[in-house]
Amino acid sequence: MSFTRFVGNITDSNGCVDKAQTVMSKTILITGGAGFVGSSLAISLKTHYPQYKILVLDNLKRRGSELNLIRLKEAGIEFFHGDIRNPEDFNVLPAVDTIVEASAEPSVLAGINEPPSYVINTNLLGTINCLNYAVKNKSDVVFLSTSRVYPIEKIEQIAFEETETRFTVSAEQTLEGMSENGLSEKFSLEGYRSIYGTTKLCSELLIQEYNQFYDLKTVINRCGVLTGAWQMGKVDQGVIVLWMARHFWQQNLGYFGYGGAGKQVRDVLHIDDLYRLIDYQIHNLDKVNNEIFNVGGGNEVSVSLCELTEFCRNITGNRVSIQSVPENRQADIRIYITDNSKVSAATKWKPEIGVQKILEDIYIWLKDNENSLQHILK
Ligand SMILES: NC(=O)c1ccc[n+]([C@@H]2O[C@H](COP(=O)([O-])OP(=O)(O)OC[C@H]3O[C@@H](n4cnc5c(N)ncnc54)[C@H](O)[C@@H]3O)[C@@H](O)[C@H]2O)c1
Repeated sequence: MSFTRFVGNITDSNGCVDKAQTVMSKTILITGGAGFVGSSLAISLKTHYPQYKILVLDNLKRRGSELNLIRLKEAGIEFFHGDIRNPEDFNVLPAVDTIVEASAEPSVLAGINEPPSYVINTNLLGTINCLNYAVKNKSDVVFLSTSRVYPIEKIEQIAFEETETRFTVSAEQTLEGMSENGLSEKFSLEGYRSIYGTTKLCSELLIQEYNQFYDLKTVINRCGVLTGAWQMGKVDQGVIVLWMARHFWQQNLGYFGYGGAGKQVRDVLHIDDLYRLIDYQIHNLDKVNNEIFNVGGGNEVSVSLCELTEFCRNITGNRVSIQSVPENRQADIRIYITDNSKVSAATKWKPEIGVQKILEDIYIWLKDNENSLQHILK
């Protein structure tokens, strides 16, 4: 452990006070810390725990991540320009108490119509480098995994119904791990899942081995769609921001797949809701050690594309032309709803921020940062 010093009692932002726990000043490394999730978690942690030393490592591969460097600096967070694919890049880092592994090539289409080397080298070999660094320093590891570890063909077998604006999960389900509450950790892992999902699942398996044999404390979060301000949404990743940005700048969109009516559904989690969970996990890792959790907005915070259009029209006052393309796109899925039962039972965490507020936050961010963002998002 790097340096730890007593500074008082802890109340985490999840509202869970752990009397047995005292606040130590921690050093936390966030890999991918200039990205959407990484920078948001880094800034929230520093805001809630000003005494902590927060370091971020990022190779700035994601377009727009460079914009976060100013925010990180202003928040008092130290940036290391490095690449998790290179073990040497960890040598300059000090020992840390906790690593939040949030670096990735996060697109489900990565490596499908292009060589898979970048996504595999970052998401799998890079994660192994993070784990080795964690072993060296006896750091705890919080891992950002994905709902995309679940296989595409099985997800496509989920029984659904169709309403005017969306597909819904039927009350009667035959697949193990699937219910009207959504998809739980008991859902099958048999079948192809995309190169992206596979790199994440492989990393998860190794994390469990490191936990067992190298005494690492770890927790894995299989997140559904995450969103919020500072997500550099693009066609293949970050659909909620993409949708709002296209309305904001009045650019065309398309409903691709599943008949082209925009009825496919995802649950969505606001980054601030994710933060409350990660905060809890960092400070209560013994309680969640070696666990794997599905984490998402759940049924209550879910939206179809055509419903998303309606939200964006109402918030921006703009209508954009939306093309309809009935044919499905590669690696797409009809519906994904997270069953948060396990994570909620273990941590008392649940999502609190609804779709309207999520979209308003994104809109305000676009408006406030129009000049710098238009080069990236327009
Ligand atoms: N955003 C989502 O909807 C979502 C959903 C599920 C899981 N996740 C996971 O959350 C994590 C964060 O995703 P995000 O949405 O912030 O993506 P992001 O692209 O905004 O951030 C990832 C960051 O990692 C950096 N990076 C990429 N390759 C790197 C490398 N080799 N070395 C160092 N840095 C590198 C990028 O420059 C970027 O800043 C990822 O692990 C992703 O798989 C995200």
